[in-house]
Amino acid sequence: MNDMANEYPRTVHLKGKRFEFRLLGQDDRDEMLAFARALPEEDLRFLRVDLTDPKVVDDWLEGINAGLRIAVVAHLDGRLVGYGSLNRRESSWMRHLGEIRIMVLPEVRQAGLGGHLAHDVFQLAQQIGLTKIVAQMAREQRGARQMFHKLGFSIEALLADWVIDPRDATHDLILMSYDVTGLEAGAGA
Ligand SMILES: CC(C)(COP(=O)(O)OP(=O)(O)OC[C@H]1O[C@@H](n2cnc3c(N)ncnc32)[C@H](O)[C@@H]1OP(=O)(O)O)[C@@H](O)C(=O)NCCC(=O)NCCS
Repeated sequence: MNDMANEYPRTVHLKGKRFEFRLLGQDDRDEMLAFARALPEEDLRFLRVDLTDPKVVDDWLEGINAGLRIAVVAHLDGRLVGYGSLNRRESSWMRHLGEIRIMVLPEVRQAGLGGHLAHDVFQLAQQIGLTKIVAQMAREQRGARQMFHKLGFSIEALLADWVIDPRDATHDLILMSYDVTGLEAGAGA
């Protein structure tokens, strides 16, 4: 995934704010932790892995070293305020598939940042030859559903009680997908 490093850092202007996009690296460990710890409880409920835990962040960064994950991070005034990640599958029968996750701090939402991060992750997925991108979210994550819908994703499955939150309450999981070969038509962010 190293060729793509040339495209970063880059500056993205949104609603009068200047965001710096770059690839997440090992030096961002503490910033990633601070980012996760700044998320409100309703978002922490649906983190797939607990990024407020330093050990989990270390594992996450290990996945980047191993080439199983790539993440674009957005900084505003030197602070990490959002990321988009692409997780690849280790199993050979899903080697064409990547899972996208986008997370943005509440104070910078609805300005186009999530959509831009998603668009960058699409491009990274295309460059490494992935042909199917999936996004998973709890049914309650309506903003995410709306964003992925606008980017051209379609719902493929609704899986009952597949998610359990930190309070042991279960939630339905929505699986959305996008065919990368249709990138130009669908990703207008
Ligand atoms: C989902 C999330 C990433 C969106 O980030 P964002 O920066 O607000 O997204 P954008 O401003 O780029 O919005 C993209 C599109 O989705 C729409 N959208 C975003 N949040 C929305 C909401 N809560 N309700 C309705 N529409 C919403 C926007 O209107 C926009 O459409 P437009 O381009 O036609 O205006 C952000 O709300 C978030 O981090 N949520 C919590 C984590 C989460 O659910 N992550 C997804 C798991 S994969």
